[in-house]
Amino acid sequence: MNKTIALIYGDCASPEIVRQAVRVLDKIADKYNHTFTYTRAYMGGEAIDKFGDPLPAAELEKCKAADSVLLGAIGGPKWEGLPGDRRPEKGLLRLRAGMGLYANNRPARIWPQLADASPLKKSIVDQGIDFIVVRELIGGVYFGEHKTFTQDGEKVAVDTMPYAEHEIERIGRIGFETAMKRRKKLTCVDKANVLDTSRLWRAVMHRLQAEYPEVEYNEMFVDNCAMQICKNPAQFDVIVTENMFGDILSDEASEITGSIGMVPSSSLGQGSCGLYEPIHGSAPDIAGQDIVNPIACILSAAMMLRYSFSMPAEADAIEAAVNAVLDAGFRTADMMADGCTKVGCTAITDEILKRI
Ligand code: IPM
Ligand code: MG
Repeated sequence: MNKTIALIYGDCASPEIVRQAVRVLDKIADKYNHTFTYTRAYMGGEAIDKFGDPLPAAELEKCKAADSVLLGAIGGPKWEGLPGDRRPEKGLLRLRAGMGLYANNRPARIWPQLADASPLKKSIVDQGIDFIVVRELIGGVYFGEHKTFTQDGEKVAVDTMPYAEHEIERIGRIGFETAMKRRKKLTCVDKANVLDTSRLWRAVMHRLQAEYPEVEYNEMFVDNCAMQICKNPAQFDVIVTENMFGDILSDEASEITGSIGMVPSSSLGQGSCGLYEPIHGSAPDIAGQDIVNPIACILSAAMMLRYSFSMPAEADAIEAAVNAVLDAGFRTADMMADGCTKVGCTAITDEILKRI
């Protein structure tokens, strides 16, 4: 198969991981007789430096024209002082919205080899951690009106959180469909004791529920959910939630699995062109040292093969190679444990490549 992949190298330590993911994709292309053609797109801090804009229209078009997009992570101290609409993060939000990627899928699964790295007690980890956060990605407070004004001699800031029924319905449906392919359990996470948007979410979810009688459906307040993820993560199969709650809970969910450096994500909309990115940030503190963990980005590439290119065998090959490398005791610094071999970003990828 011939596929075009738009690569966004990203900021700080991010280019280091994207380069490794490309090595893995090249190995897959070679082994399975595919041709991957890369186009480079600029977004985030890099685009600000080059064009003065975190996502120029031409860069968005490059992404939309590709068969899929692979991204590392964006942002960093260099761009922190910029106004909200010119920050690197704004480029990412515009990319997600511009591509219509409303469904963000963030798996939280314990790698048995990393169980000791989980901050949770062994007795909790042993019950199993294997759930997915389905996060609404292009609505809610991230995309509502933001403003700061002066009132009675002081500054006041307002961020609004709108949700229309159709936005809730399409992500709610992804939640139910995802649950149907797994253990058939869906938890809708909200703050329905306080927010109107959450009450609307529940009303829409109840309508959908009638279409999926096989799914065991429940609802949970987000504060309780944050606590339950630490206390009893085994209860979760699929969590569906609005944009900001999903942002927060997916960081928590990834950390309990051992390392946030291991968690990939997919973002999809109507078509098969998606955006694949690690859920972690750009790790400015360790940039340029070749010590960052590239696995979340490599696994994001695997997700791209699976979900956008329908190449399950190729995706399995990458995931199996990562598993074998962990079995062999290789670890980057973020997941280092006693008795393991500490390696850098390039070296751990070398080990993965050997096993594909
Ligand atoms: C994420 C990140 C982004 C988000 C930031 C960089 C805007 O935290 O992908 O989770 O909040 O969505
Ligand atoms: Mg986040």
